[in-house]
Amino acid sequence: MTTTKANLSEFEQKLVDKAVEAMERAYCKYSNFKVGAALVCEDGEIIIGANHENASYGATICAERSAVVTALTKGHRKFKMIAVATELEGPCSPCGICRQFLIEFGDYKVILGSSTSDQIIETSTYGLLPYAFTPKSLDDHEKETEERHHQEETKNGH
Ligand code: THU
Repeated sequence: MTTTKANLSEFEQKLVDKAVEAMERAYCKYSNFKVGAALVCEDGEIIIGANHENASYGATICAERSAVVTALTKGHRKFKMIAVATELEGPCSPCGICRQFLIEFGDYKVILGSSTSDQIIETSTYGLLPYAFTPKSLDDHEKETEERHHQEETKNGH
């Protein structure tokens, strides 16, 4: 959903501000495209991330993944919300790899903001990546395989 910053809760507005502040931590000498993220953990701790580039371009880490990796390393596993900001007036949406990385930890709110405008996109990890491959896919596979083995054994009179 497209909205403006004024329509967000006070907490969410501050989170967008933190994502904008985090843009200043970006190491983006190749693209000059600063991205900041602010991730709210289940216990309320807010962890920031920024994009960090590399002379070997493919080694770059995006702001969203940088925030999640920092949070994971601190022991967090569940997240409530993430805000992401860039200089683009129309909020910039996370890349495919980040969408996959974010959804690993479930469905939570995603707020996309801007350092140059009040435009906001409100969505969720599932909104960004419908029909996602998640840990549930692997759990389901294990259960279904077990179930088929069991049926096979019953059929064969074991
Ligand atoms: N970038 C992010 O940090 N997050 C995204 O979701 C999209 C792209 C960064 C990576 C690179 O440093 C710069 O933006 C240009 O691609």
